[in-house]
Amino acid sequence: MSTGKNLKGLIRPLLIVACMGASYGDADEFKAVGRCPEIRGTQTAPTSYLGRTNPLSPTAENRAAGARLYQDDARPTPCVTCHGVLGDGQGPAAAYLNPAPRNFRCRSTMLDIPDGQLYWVIEQGSGELHHPARQGAQHLGRPGRTQTVTAMRSYGDYLTEEEIWQLVLYIRSLANETD
Ligand code: HEC
Repeated sequence: MSTGKNLKGLIRPLLIVACMGASYGDADEFKAVGRCPEIRGTQTAPTSYLGRTNPLSPTAENRAAGARLYQDDARPTPCVTCHGVLGDGQGPAAAYLNPAPRNFRCRSTMLDIPDGQLYWVIEQGSGELHHPARQGAQHLGRPGRTQTVTAMRSYGDYLTEEEIWQLVLYIRSLANETD
């Protein structure tokens, strides 16, 4: 991965975390990096998204396109920075984040998350300081959480719909059969 650009993209999420200071006080249970099964406090997507299934065929080409975006090309920060090369949620930034990045290797957790939910979080972010017009009050209600912001930003302004579905295909391919 091209480290210079990636670090630049990281400044914003890390600044958000730093600015929240002591008030960024999520319960520690959300902080464990790479845990499986994961404790997941992520807001549920609107039903208009939840019902969607991946329109792309699971071809090697689509998965490879998802891999390129995940590992290197997605801007402003490629997914690998937080979710890790293997998708285990242990990227270089993970230790600084609360909640921790999702562990895509954790099959038992990932099986319960519908395609449309994955799509929604990639497009809209998960409680990011975000597009109010597009995400409404998403950051206000996060059950079980005392803080409102996560490092998972919205990529809707950077990725096409097809690219997001390619990422969903790739993420699904990372699940570890034994978890
Ligand atoms: C700066 C760190 C960071 C980067 C970069 C990042 N993520 Fe995340 N991601 C997170 C965190 C933190 C969470 C956990 C959010 C939560 O618990 O609600 C998360 C959660 C997710 C989820 C879980 C959705 C759910 O409902 O459980 C998906 C899918 C996801 N990220 C995909 C991506 C993809 C694809 C990219 C790259 C295009 C990406 N992430 C880049 C930090 C990051």
